[in-house]
Amino acid sequence: MTIKTSRARQLTMTFPNTSSISDYSINTIIPQRTIFSTTSKSIDTFNIQQRRYLGNKFNVLSLIDEVINNEIGEFESFCDIFAGTGVVGHYYNTPQRKIISNDLLFSNYITHTAFLGCNNIDNTKISKIINELNRLNSTVDNYASLHFGGRYFTLSTARHIGEIREKINQIHKQQIITFQEKSVLLTSLLYAMDRIANTVGHYDAYIKKEVKRENFILKMPNIKYEANHKNINYNKDANILIRQIECDVLYIDPPYNSRQYSDSYHLLENIMRWEKPEVHGEARKFDRKHLKSDYSLKNATKAFADLIENAKCKYILFSYNNMADKGNNRSNARMNDNDILEILNRKGNVKIFEQSYKEFTTGKSDRGDNKERVFFVEVIK
Ligand SMILES: C[S@@+](CC[C@H](N)C(=O)[O-])C[C@H]1O[C@@H](n2cnc3c(N)ncnc32)[C@H](O)[C@@H]1O
Repeated sequence: MTIKTSRARQLTMTFPNTSSISDYSINTIIPQRTIFSTTSKSIDTFNIQQRRYLGNKFNVLSLIDEVINNEIGEFESFCDIFAGTGVVGHYYNTPQRKIISNDLLFSNYITHTAFLGCNNIDNTKISKIINELNRLNSTVDNYASLHFGGRYFTLSTARHIGEIREKINQIHKQQIITFQEKSVLLTSLLYAMDRIANTVGHYDAYIKKEVKRENFILKMPNIKYEANHKNINYNKDANILIRQIECDVLYIDPPYNSRQYSDSYHLLENIMRWEKPEVHGEARKFDRKHLKSDYSLKNATKAFADLIENAKCKYILFSYNNMADKGNNRSNARMNDNDILEILNRKGNVKIFEQSYKEFTTGKSDRGDNKERVFFVEVIK
């Protein structure tokens, strides 16, 4: 195993013990408030990164990009196999490239389909529908209001959410909208809920004080249709998908601790699926047994070894932070560095790059010295 430093000035490779790093300034993309003009009424828009998501890599895109520029250069296909919000694949999305996005959560598959899907939509029709959905005056209780009203949202907003969700299903069933258009509307709903939910950014709990009235409004996602025509989205376990695909760059960003994403985002997953399951407990979670990730369990290392063994790609970029023995048990990393290096080394020479960053957490703990790391392998074996 050879460990090298990046040619990039700002990056310092530090493994196993030393630590010297300059704070990386992030590519802050100022949230846009563009106006989408329609024949009916102007509509506000939103961008893919404008949601709260644990472990999202928007703030470390500069590190990933530095590694890709210095170590790879040009490439034609990129697979974001644990895509989450999809911001990493989206960053590399151009008309010349094929972006493969995948996530175990259906809710993420829906947002990937909206932002990165290869089918066009009728923008004028969808804008009109969004305006109509915003105008609904919902006074009757439904699945969303009965379970989430007065908790994550006010009762009236929860009624509005439930009615919007029902309407989206209806118009899809009546073939007024395509699946691509349905995904755009659902993505608009998901981001609208996330903007105002009475939480610290995930849905393991809601904030137990009076839910304030909020400005719940659906907006239009900003989508680069011209760049999407080669893309493909999946909703599979990464270890199953890896056996079915090939790509130039494989970007691997699994959960690193025991916090299951299906727990943290159960509410969004539930509303996106709209199967209206029973919910339990104070947080009103549905049964998520089938959505548990191996990467948050004891067999994470075994799953990772299997993933790497079956990867058919030219380059691997693997994000994993340095929380092996820090924080509390729940935030400890599931895999240790020796195992990671041993597994990656089976494919080729490993280089490690890192960046200090402020993690998006529940806001309770400030673990200050978090380091986001990218392990890089040029596959030769
Ligand atoms: C650290 S997050 C990825 C964040 C993403 N890179 C971003 O910037 O938003 C890990 C993601 O892996 C997904 N996941 C967990 N286990 C998985 C599995 N076995 N197969 C596919 N996706 C999985 C989770 O749902 C979660 O969205």
